[in-house]
Amino acid sequence: MDSYKGFLLSLLSITSTLGTVHGIPTPQEQGKFNNSTTRIQQSNAPWNLQRISSRNTVTPVNNNVTALAYTYQYDEAATGAGVDVYIVDSGIDTKHPDFEGRAKMLFTIEPDQELDGGGHGTFVAGVVGSKSYGVAKKVNLLSVNVNFGGDQDFVNSTKAINAVLANHNERRNQKDFKGSVMNLSWGFQRQLVDASRDAGFSGFDNKTIGELRSAIQRASEAGVHITIAPGNDGKDACDDYPAMFVQDIPSLITVGNSDITDTRAKNSDFGRCVDIHAPGSNVTSTWLLTGGFPGVRVDSGTSFAAPAAAGLIAGELIRQPGLMMKPREMKQHILSMGIRGAVKDAERGGNILLNTGLMG
Ligand SMILES: *[C@@H]1O[C@H](CO)[C@@H](O)[C@H](O)[C@H]1NC(C)=O
Ligand SMILES: *[C@@H]1O[C@H](CO)[C@@H](O)[C@H](O)[C@H]1NC(C)=O
Ligand SMILES: *[C@@H]1O[C@H](CO)[C@@H](O)[C@H](O)[C@H]1NC(C)=O
Ligand SMILES: *[C@@H]1O[C@H](CO)[C@@H](O)[C@H](O)[C@H]1NC(C)=O
Ligand SMILES: *[C@@H]1O[C@H](CO)[C@@H](O)[C@H](O)[C@H]1NC(C)=O
Ligand SMILES: *[C@@H]1O[C@H](CO)[C@@H](O)[C@H](O)[C@H]1NC(C)=O
Ligand SMILES: *[C@@H]1O[C@H](CO)[C@@H](O)[C@H](O)[C@H]1NC(C)=O
Repeated sequence: MDSYKGFLLSLLSITSTLGTVHGIPTPQEQGKFNNSTTRIQQSNAPWNLQRISSRNTVTPVNNNVTALAYTYQYDEAATGAGVDVYIVDSGIDTKHPDFEGRAKMLFTIEPDQELDGGGHGTFVAGVVGSKSYGVAKKVNLLSVNVNFGGDQDFVNSTKAINAVLANHNERRNQKDFKGSVMNLSWGFQRQLVDASRDAGFSGFDNKTIGELRSAIQRASEAGVHITIAPGNDGKDACDDYPAMFVQDIPSLITVGNSDITDTRAKNSDFGRCVDIHAPGSNVTSTWLLTGGFPGVRVDSGTSFAAPAAAGLIAGELIRQPGLMMKPREMKQHILSMGIRGAVKDAERGGNILLNTGLMG
């Protein structure tokens, strides 16, 4: 992971209701999709949230990208209340107050690690659904710890995805089920996998890779909406696991990282295995509780772009319940909501910028 320029902040209060704005058609909402109801405005948001809810490029406030002074507008229904978002990552610091008790541990590969050993998963969860920095502020955040940041192999990754599938299959028959989103925030370069396999590490052999692909495919077929960060190597995303699986499993959504000027970040993987870009550079989100203080950090990477898409899907699951079990149709819907041609240097793939279509 990149080195962090971290800092602590006290949590900020959010949201004032703007009022009810009925029936303003936005381009993607014409036709079979449902319109917005009550709009809510957060005026102390990080820039990425303004970007996904505006048609226009963001102008830095006080020349400060990381100022918490941007405006996020969202539909009340798009808070994703009750949607299960699985964060397959380093864990989640579920006690962080910005999660408001909505974060829970579901599965951990490390028996003694109930929270988050690294912080990455807490950050990702914050972009999806924390109160102050999240896209969908009412989702259930389910921690699936695969020890991201430590050693990892495809065997453990497959176990984690199977745990998500088992929980999804149990939840889908329950009355309060609103849909499932899974974000995969890790990846392996093909080169490294090949080298590990050639060196005899069984966790990277072809059979194991096939099992990971099958687990992801089964989850998608069972109705789990899956977002993937292609990676931060500045290379072709088709050379990364699991992003390359989008070629065989077209319902997966791979999300590149764009910056405040709507330019693809130099290190964001590119090419036809990238579907869409979302703001992922200099994003502010939750970090580990430290000495009782709720952590906050600024970071950059595809890891922090993909969760924006996961959050948007969670919101759309409430607004468009007809797409609940249809990941492929949901993907088409999300792509059609985005702003076409808005990403500079997109490099042969994903020249669509994630957007909720709610602000002018
Ligand atoms: C959305 O709003 C537009 C404009 O008010 C209206 O014509 C359309 O029927 C609405 N669509 C739905 C699905 O409610
Ligand atoms: C930008 O805003 C952040 C968040 O308020 C603050 O921590 C940081 O010091 C500011 N940077 C500058 C250069 O003013
Ligand atoms: C997989 O998880 C097991 C159980 O926690 C752990 O002992 C093992 O080291 C993990 N494998 C890798 C490669 O991290
Ligand atoms: C594993 O897959 C690679 C790449 O597809 C291939 O080159 C290699 O021959 C396969 N190895 C075995 C043992 O099947
Ligand atoms: C983050 O913001 C700083 C200050 O504006 C800028 O120099 C840097 O390039 C930005 N990082 C990314 C990844 O966009
Ligand atoms: C989504 O996955 C990407 C990479 O696979 C990761 O970088 C990002 O942090 C994850 N986001 C969430 C919300 O889990
Ligand atoms: C629109 O909302 C209605 C009522 O909640 C729902 O039955 C319908 O499936 C929704 N449309 C879509 C595309 O989800």
